[in-house]
Amino acid sequence: MPSLKAYNTLGLDVSCNELIRIKSSDQLQEIVNSRKEDYFILGGGSNVLILNNLNRPVLLNQIKGREVIKETKSHSIVKIGGGENWHKLVRWTIKQGLGGLENLSLIPGSVGAAPMQNIGAYGVEIKDVFHSLEAINLKSGKKRTFKSGTCEFGYRSSVFKNKYKGKYFITSVSFKLSKNPKLNISYGAIKSELEKRAIHKPTIKDVSDVVIDIRNTKLPDPKVIGNTGSFFKNPIVSSAKAKKIKRDFPNMPSYPATKTKVKLSAGWLIEKCGWKGKNLGGAGCYAKHALILINKNNATSDEMLQLSQQIQESVKEKFGLKLEAEVNFIS
Ligand code: EPU
Repeated sequence: MPSLKAYNTLGLDVSCNELIRIKSSDQLQEIVNSRKEDYFILGGGSNVLILNNLNRPVLLNQIKGREVIKETKSHSIVKIGGGENWHKLVRWTIKQGLGGLENLSLIPGSVGAAPMQNIGAYGVEIKDVFHSLEAINLKSGKKRTFKSGTCEFGYRSSVFKNKYKGKYFITSVSFKLSKNPKLNISYGAIKSELEKRAIHKPTIKDVSDVVIDIRNTKLPDPKVIGNTGSFFKNPIVSSAKAKKIKRDFPNMPSYPATKTKVKLSAGWLIEKCGWKGKNLGGAGCYAKHALILINKNNATSDEMLQLSQQIQESVKEKFGLKLEAEVNFIS
């Protein structure tokens, strides 16, 4: 049974019954047209908790390629293979002088997985620069193009995490990037870091460099410590609920989400429950950021699951809130 240890950023020692490396959409179409099976698609493996050995074939997205497919005076549309590394793509766009992805530097994972959960950081989500994607239906083998509207992007969510979960293999993603980028530096940490460096007229490269440094100071490198980034979503609650919690915890961070709802910080809630830096067997809650669960010492899938469930129970008990996993649980 091929091991998936190198293909999930938690570094869990799980296996599958067959590992199929997909290098092109033609190859994928040939496979799914000739073998009707219940496949599991793996991109960078940076947002999955694989709960057990998988008794089904795994399709590993290794489709490469980066090209500019359209240019106007103000924008370029770039089409990127689903198996490309996300961060390498971001740095490539910066070299081309194309803005839009710089705030999303250093996010682990692959390009094909990025739209699945509408990845985001520092005030930007990929829906903001998304143009379209091509995907292959794993049952019919047919290719389909999805424009932004049909992807149903939401906070860390899309149609591929809901209605079409496991149904489409994303072969390429196209982004509309700007030749005269408007920077998005309103997010506190970026602004203050630029000021600290006395950068008054930042370029997209400056923003990317600052984001890389901010992330490096508080998020663990998955190559060194197994992790999946934020394990839970930040809960979005009614203003009334937030007010009620603030009565007991006046310092709780909160951010306006809609007119009537606010986003709370899952990291803060978990820290207040005392989990920060705590371990359960080989699994741990990262000491520098409580929203990150780590594979501290040869953790098993079960230990990771137990830890996440115990954290959810604590937050439910203390704050009456249900934390929803951002990570996909696979069995
Ligand atoms: N906080 C704590 N204790 C902690 C961690 C955080 O009190 O242990 C507080 C911070 O002090 C801050 C607030 O929580 O006041 C928010 O923390 P942070 O700025 O680190 O952001 P986050 O809400 O925890 C989100 C995304 C990250 C993204 C950052 C920056 C989610 C689930 N996570 O984290 O995305 O990088 O904002 O934009 O939305 C990911 O999705 O994997 C991810 C890393």
